[in-house]
Amino acid sequence: MRRVSRFLALSLVALLLGASAHAQVAPLARTPVIPPATPILAHSGMVVAQESRAARIGIEILDRGGNAVDAAVAVGFALAVTYPRAGNLGGGGFMVIHLAKDNRDVAIDYRETAPAAATPTMFLDAKGNPDPKKSRDSGLAVGVPGTVAGLALAREKYGSGKLSLADLITPAIRLASQGFPVEDDTADSLPRAKERLARWPSSAAIFLTGGQPPSEGDRLLQFDLADTLRAIAQDGPRAFYQGSIAGEIADAVVKAGGIMTKDDLANYHALKRPVVRGTYRGYDIVSMPPPSSGGVALIEMLNILEGYDLAKLGRGEQSLHDLIEAMKRAYADRAVFMGDPDAVKMPIAGLLSKKYAAALRASIGDKATPAADIHAGKPADFEGQNTTHFSVIDRDGNAVSNTYTLNFSYGLGLVADGTGVLLNNELDDFTSKPGTANAYGLVGFNANLPGPGKRPLSSMTPTIVLKDGKPFLITGSPGGSRIITAVLQVISNVIDFHMAVDKAVSAPRLHNQWQPDGAFAEPGFAPDLLDALQRRGHKIVPTEPHTSANSILVTPNGYVGAADTRTRGALAAGY
Ligand code: DON
Repeated sequence: MRRVSRFLALSLVALLLGASAHAQVAPLARTPVIPPATPILAHSGMVVAQESRAARIGIEILDRGGNAVDAAVAVGFALAVTYPRAGNLGGGGFMVIHLAKDNRDVAIDYRETAPAAATPTMFLDAKGNPDPKKSRDSGLAVGVPGTVAGLALAREKYGSGKLSLADLITPAIRLASQGFPVEDDTADSLPRAKERLARWPSSAAIFLTGGQPPSEGDRLLQFDLADTLRAIAQDGPRAFYQGSIAGEIADAVVKAGGIMTKDDLANYHALKRPVVRGTYRGYDIVSMPPPSSGGVALIEMLNILEGYDLAKLGRGEQSLHDLIEAMKRAYADRAVFMGDPDAVKMPIAGLLSKKYAAALRASIGDKATPAADIHAGKPADFEGQNTTHFSVIDRDGNAVSNTYTLNFSYGLGLVADGTGVLLNNELDDFTSKPGTANAYGLVGFNANLPGPGKRPLSSMTPTIVLKDGKPFLITGSPGGSRIITAVLQVISNVIDFHMAVDKAVSAPRLHNQWQPDGAFAEPGFAPDLLDALQRRGHKIVPTEPHTSANSILVTPNGYVGAADTRTRGALAAGY
């Protein structure tokens, strides 16, 4: 939450101060430095995750004969224990899988759903205005969690079959019951989440002592979470979605002002969906379809950029200008068209078409187009019905790209009493009222209004880039609205600018999401370059880093993992 409000505050201040064209870019008060990532080379398998214990568990599973999906499932359960700010059982996410044997790509949608009693006006106050307290800070914000169903479905359909669900959960049970020292990003993030956690005695009992966050090195013990994990290991996902755990989750949500019932949990299903596909300079892009906007917006931006010779231009003023302009146009389309594919019709084929991208490209000139002059386009082919990241690859070339989240750091901050499960506040990703913005400043319209059982539109973009049908780059990121542009830049850095994966991940990133009309620039860009972009009309807004693209590149020498250093403790573990 803190990160988000700081980002919004910073953006607002910078925009109000009029970081106008021709002005020089004002530096951040505190300029964090993005440390260089360290490339790790391995030949038999690689796991890159935001927390080191979980990454090592993935390697242990590969070493025991599990495939990349088994390893990803074990990492997913482990992060729910070791990385509580985003790893979760009480949230949801997306997994993109490449299966080497039959050269197939599949997506698993385990996004949270709105309860059956949800309505389009549920986040409005008495005057009909959006009430962020309802959508971010109350039980109404909690979506029916999808993670347990999603991870179980992934193992059942695509795991090696050599390891049971219990085998994959056991390391997480051990960590929850025996505890581990609080360190790295968890030591950094708990103090910032203190107030949000302190609101709920059930959360304070686990994450705070005498109202204070643990010191670095203190042991974090999560006995209730261990019991919940044991129940899932023994009886499968129904232990979570039916019976006493489901009852405790629904009770906690209702007590916090929400409308979730035990039936909502019993009715939850993770879904297999066809991936979205695009091509970029001869590579295949395989990514997450709606209800994430990530894959479609990513491919739309890549299609626009394909028309520019970025390799020749280098990563300088002209190419960054082109990049920002592509971002604005794709985010405008995202805002207007996209939502839950089971509830709204979307012009997906049109948005993904090269012809449409060419038309958008034609509207890009030498100067920045003000956001107010950009409107969602008119893509053809209106179709019929329609936040931590880790990357894994195994020795056979099966690959998993997984992003999952509680939305804010530690979600709502509410642990469902007796379960150890932190609950999400994902439903803020819906549009509370057409034309208004969510916590990430993302404006939305009718396509993304809340409704019974609906899945809120996401920006999560787990992606696998294929070369000649085989995994080449596995990437994705947390970071709310900035996820899609982070993934875009990692891909472009590798393919266009021929950067090694560690450099591609560490390089400073730009972000423009159409509204608000600012190009957010991480520390590390040359001041002259930012001034030049500003002279073209881009409102450059210095920003702290918010993304973390844990990536794997497949090279002739082996798998190269790069853990993003924007937070402490990420690890590329290879074997
Ligand atoms: O699904 C989404 O787009 C957001 N709820 C993701 C939140 C996120 O990435 C927070 N991370 N920093």
